[in-house]
Amino acid sequence: MTPTRILVVGGGGREHALAWKLAGEPGVNTIHVAPGSAAIALEPRVQTHPEVAALDARGLVRLARQLAIELAVIGPEAPLAAGVADALRTAGIPTFGPSAAAARIEASKAFCRDVAAAAGVPMAEGRAFSDPAPAVAYARGLAARMDGTAGVVVKADGLAAGKGVTVCAGADEAEAELTAIFGAGAEQAPGSARVVVEERLVGPEASLIALCDGRVAIGLPPARDHKRLLDDDEGPNTGGMGAYSPLPDLSTERATVLLDTVHRRILGELERRGARFVGALYAGMILTADGPRLLECNARFGDPETQVILPRLGLALAPLLLAAARGELGRTAAGLGLLDPIVQTVDRAAVGIVLAAAGYPAAPRRDDAIMGLDTIGDDALVFHSGSVLASDGRFATAGGRVLTIVGRGVDLADARARAEAAADRISFAGLQRRRDIAANLPGASPAPTLAAIG
Ligand code: AMP
Ligand code: GLY
Repeated sequence: MTPTRILVVGGGGREHALAWKLAGEPGVNTIHVAPGSAAIALEPRVQTHPEVAALDARGLVRLARQLAIELAVIGPEAPLAAGVADALRTAGIPTFGPSAAAARIEASKAFCRDVAAAAGVPMAEGRAFSDPAPAVAYARGLAARMDGTAGVVVKADGLAAGKGVTVCAGADEAEAELTAIFGAGAEQAPGSARVVVEERLVGPEASLIALCDGRVAIGLPPARDHKRLLDDDEGPNTGGMGAYSPLPDLSTERATVLLDTVHRRILGELERRGARFVGALYAGMILTADGPRLLECNARFGDPETQVILPRLGLALAPLLLAAARGELGRTAAGLGLLDPIVQTVDRAAVGIVLAAAGYPAAPRRDDAIMGLDTIGDDALVFHSGSVLASDGRFATAGGRVLTIVGRGVDLADARARAEAAADRISFAGLQRRRDIAANLPGASPAPTLAAIG
């Protein structure tokens, strides 16, 4: 069944892509977005509700009732962690997005490690700590074992929009980072800081997102984010500077194996703990020489991955999201002839380039006028992450990541050329972007044996 009235919660680039995709599907009447953004409001068949914030659970329930919403879809992590999905479900509104209890898989890296370990999901070696001394000792032990060639990764627990992770060159840098985190934590509330210390893994990353109804997981096509600010993976970690899909080094067959060894095991473990996961389960992985390893789980669609995945989907998303919200994903998927565990794509590739504001990620500057949006036409898709409509009628910057420009083509090279050409036509003061999104493609690698991943 297709829900005719859908409410999307959020207002960034991921929600722009969701609203655009859902509004174009047969049978959908209006996509409501709360709060949405000025750019999202310009999409046909989309209505925004700027007065209702993404964290305003009561306001969202009221709005959903007023509009007789048949499906709510929650985009960002903060409302999920704050229990907005619980509030909507309690009010009887079918909701695609996990409960606060299940969203801990993203909100706490320590919880994620614990669940993944109990489920037998292969991960980077590591441990969670709430005191500095054992954390430093563990980091020193890891670094020593790795004979100085690899590093140690330190992650602050809690939601940090991809920015709470530091890849340290050695034990001394790890100690400095741990001292800084525990020092800051002690100022806020003594004993409150929690960190994860991990071995540094080497290999290309992959994002595999599955639609889940608590038990059944259906995979979306794999994508790859580029987390570092600068070309050649230099500079600080960001929320993501660009993405592409498909991945030459992660075939549908391999992704299917990963759904079994990662997503379904995590769903099972969460259900065992009384926290059924209904929503988009995002596994961030590194494809190491020894097989794939889980880095993190997110409890939602990725950003900017969603902006390149959704344009490639060969079928309507709305019936699948509703089925997941109702716990009927297996039956609905079979009814749609969706027998493969990875959703089919139309035969195209997509590359998304993020245009970020001056000062991102440390201190993004606002209110720089964006030029060139009117020159893009049908050449590329433009999803707005952080923009406002200024009084002169032009868009201006209003966030760290400002736009994602998505080129679609017959293959990644074609899609990349289109995305680059469109991105070149957009400018604003201090614009930051990478020039190597989807430029250095890894070759196809052989499928790992089942033993290697599980
Ligand atoms: P996370 O928030 O855990 O996904 O970490 C953000 C980024 O930090 C990842 O996308 C990786 O680029 C990097 N990272 C995290 N953990 C590791 C690790 N164990 N080894 C190497 N890089 C890592
Ligand atoms: N692109 C990474 C994330 O959504 O967290």
